[in-house]
Amino acid sequence: MPETVEIFEVGPRDGLQNEARQIPTAEKIALVDCLSRAGFRRIEVASFVSPKWVPQMADSAQVLAGIARAPGVSYAALTPNMRGFEAALAARADEVAIFGSASEGFSKANINATIAESLERFVPVAEAAQAAGVPVRGYISCVTDCPYDGPTPPEAVARVAAALRDMGCYEISLGDTIGQARPESVTAMLEAVVQEVPAARLAGHFHDTAHRALDNIEASLALGLRVFDAAAGGLGGCPYAPGAAGNVATEAVHDRLSALGYETGLDRAVLMRAAEMARAMRAA
Ligand code: HMG
Ligand code: MG
Repeated sequence: MPETVEIFEVGPRDGLQNEARQIPTAEKIALVDCLSRAGFRRIEVASFVSPKWVPQMADSAQVLAGIARAPGVSYAALTPNMRGFEAALAARADEVAIFGSASEGFSKANINATIAESLERFVPVAEAAQAAGVPVRGYISCVTDCPYDGPTPPEAVARVAAALRDMGCYEISLGDTIGQARPESVTAMLEAVVQEVPAARLAGHFHDTAHRALDNIEASLALGLRVFDAAAGGLGGCPYAPGAAGNVATEAVHDRLSALGYETGLDRAVLMRAAEMARAMRAA
């Protein structure tokens, strides 16, 4: 039996959040509904952040209200603080994510807090989610390179990973926010992080600016990771990470994993339709 590797689809959130055109809610819902038929177990569809910071995500509650929820699919939302968590709960997000950074420069630029302040802010979110029975995922940005601070020391990533683990995050997604990671820097970073969090609870989140994302996924597979975030059509980028290109394309990850002999459980034809839809949303 081929081994399974899961792709966590983040296109409706990470893929779209940086688009300059305000995409109509109905288009976002149509994309999610198409993705729901592709076989994903988890799809990130919303982000309850300040609409002043990320206007594209302002209709997150409407997106969650409008999608046709497929059985067995967990629909995820970003929640930077209690206000975001309460909105996500009201909108019936199936799981939430807190998102920090391994570098101070990006932490300040993205969520207007130092790393320490952000971790403090996440504690009540994680506690409230656990009390409500909502699983919490953790993200760490800039795990190898930061647009403001330069290369990130692996120990800094391990420290934030340990803090998110202690808050009860069921999985920690390691973000190469600006797509500058190389297999060597990914390996060095993971070797430090697995001292704190087992590979089975880690995910790789690679942007593809320097076109090394697939190689970085292979380096992560070698260290035992079996979950990767990706965005259909390769859309994306973070508004607070200058120069960041899109997430690695889900269809490219699917094809590479298949070539390596892994099973993704995805229907490639449906996936290609979703990728086409996502690319059309950018082009429109
Ligand atoms: P702040 O300005 O420090 O906080 O922002 P504040 O408490 O002073 O609030 C500012 C305004 O936002 C206030 O409104 C609040 O009410 C409102 P005003 O009084 O000025 O009218 N506000 C909210 N509104 C809606 N929902 C909320 C919320 N919270 C406050 N939850 C804050 C701090 C964290 C809110 C802000 O910095 C923010 O929203 N940042 C989000 C940035 C973001 O979404 N970045 C992209 C996602 S992360 C990413 O893409 C990386 C990832 O993909 C992994 C990787 O690739 O590395 C995950
Ligand atoms: Mg990202």
